[in-house]
Amino acid sequence: DHAASRDLYQLMEEASHYYQQQLRQHPDKTKVEKYLAYRDLSSQVIEQFGIGYAPDGWDGLLSRYRQNTEAQTKLLTAGMVIANDNGKQYDRFRDRLMFPIRDRRGRVIGFGGRVLGDGTPKYLNSPETPIFHKGNELYGLYELKQKYRDPQRVLVVEGYMDVVALAQFGVDYAVASLGTSTTAEQFQLMLRSAKQVVCCYDGDNAGKDAAWRALETALPLLKPGDLVKFVFLPQGEDPDSMVRQIGKEAFEELIDKADDLPSFLFATLTEKFGGDKSSLAKQAIALIEKIQDAVLQNLLLENLSHKLGMNSAEDLKKKLGVNVKPQTQPLAQQGIKGRGTPLRLAI
Ligand code: GTP
Ligand code: MN
Ligand code: MN
Ligand code: MN
Ligand code: MN
Repeated sequence: DHAASRDLYQLMEEASHYYQQQLRQHPDKTKVEKYLAYRDLSSQVIEQFGIGYAPDGWDGLLSRYRQNTEAQTKLLTAGMVIANDNGKQYDRFRDRLMFPIRDRRGRVIGFGGRVLGDGTPKYLNSPETPIFHKGNELYGLYELKQKYRDPQRVLVVEGYMDVVALAQFGVDYAVASLGTSTTAEQFQLMLRSAKQVVCCYDGDNAGKDAAWRALETALPLLKPGDLVKFVFLPQGEDPDSMVRQIGKEAFEELIDKADDLPSFLFATLTEKFGGDKSSLAKQAIALIEKIQDAVLQNLLLENLSHKLGMNSAEDLKKKLGVNVKPQTQPLAQQGIKGRGTPLRLAI
């Protein structure tokens, strides 16, 4: 319903203005300023990303619509207000640093709210609403596109703070997936914006798992020319802490040296299977099967065969009894749109 959505967008914009205004003039603003100073966020990125403050209290936002029951219903729909079992309504976001999430057109569609210190949950996010589907959105993409119409590469990170800190230090082409894993829709969005997507998750086990899930998610989408790469940060670091520590230039050297997808794939499988080449090959092929593009699929197979000490993909297929049609035409004539021939292990 377009008219109803239009109202929701307007309400979200008003909420965002309200939070930004509270950051400037709320009586509690000293504690927020202290936190911002502690996180070392510049006033420039605070402005650029529209960061605000949701004051403590149950109805800071709600009370602005006291006489307007229609608007109150919309606040509920927009996920800005919660109703308890008795029907009593209250603000979802209280005493939090607020990051507005914008869609591609710059409309505020949701918020991430960080507690000012050690409380839980550390981040509170907008729920799914008629205008906010978090798997389809990327935090920072609008801001990036304001700077670069045609970015060469996009960096995908875990958190709001990572995007903002990177921008503050001049790495102004990062976006955050709004959850633990980067979805297929988010990869499509990024690959439509740039040929190169570099995943740079936190230097911990969760980040490592997220990278592997990203690989599995990205594989079926890849077309020739697409590059998906992976940066692994030292244990305990995330892009925010890292860029502050080493600066833009050294951080960008890390990005330049990112592992490409086949390297990450084979390195991970080698770690997992050690010398068991047959299991490694089976796992690798199961993954390579997911690639929809025939040219890319054969390139990876070729790559795998060399890693296994064979001369060619043909050798590999024979050895494993992989049932693929050989490439009968030169690559250039095959077209890049075709579906990859499914690979099957005969045994
Ligand atoms: P800082 O601690 O402020 O530097 O944030 P961070 O981005 O480093 O947080 P972390 O690495 O722990 O988490 C990465 C992202 O996961 C965050 O930006 C949030 O989007 C999300 N996240 C983290 N903690 C929570 C939580 O408690 N609840 C929810 N819903 N999301 C969270
Ligand atoms: Mn929708
Ligand atoms: Mn983490
Ligand atoms: Mn982190
Ligand atoms: Mn962090």
